[in-house]
Amino acid sequence: MVMTRWNDELNLGLEEIDNQHRALFGKLETLLDACISGRAAEEVIGMLAFLDDYVVVHFRTEEELQERFAYPGLPFHRQQHEQFRQRLALLKEEMTKEGKGSDVALQVNEMLVDWLRNHILTVDKEATLFLSDRLP
Ligand SMILES: [Fe+2]
Repeated sequence: MVMTRWNDELNLGLEEIDNQHRALFGKLETLLDACISGRAAEEVIGMLAFLDDYVVVHFRTEEELQERFAYPGLPFHRQQHEQFRQRLALLKEEMTKEGKGSDVALQVNEMLVDWLRNHILTVDKEATLFLSDRLP
C-alpha cells in the first residue's frame, strides 16, 4: 500500500517544520504518482532534482535551529540528512542510467517515503522535544 499521505501523527508541534514536512510529503506524492503512471524518465529525474533542492532548504532549517540551541544530537542528525540526500542522488543516477524501471515507484516508496516517515517519528521528534523546551 502506498503511504505517501500526510497524517497528523507526523505533526511534531513546531509550525515551520511541520509545514515543511507536509510540503515534502506533497512533493513525494507527486513524484510517486508520476512513477506509477509511467511518466518519462527525464520528468521523474527532474522531479528528483527539484525534491533535492527543497530538501536542502528544509534540512538547513532544522539544522540551523538545532545549531542555535546547541542540540547535542546535531552531528547524528546531520548524518541522517546526508544519508537521505545520498539516496536521492542514487535514485537519480539509477534513473539516468537505466531509464524508468518498473520498480521505481517501489524504490521511491521504500527509499524515500518510508525513510522520511521514520526519520520524522524518531530523529526529528527527539530534536523537536529538545527545541520546544527552549523556543520562546
Ligand atoms: Fe530531520
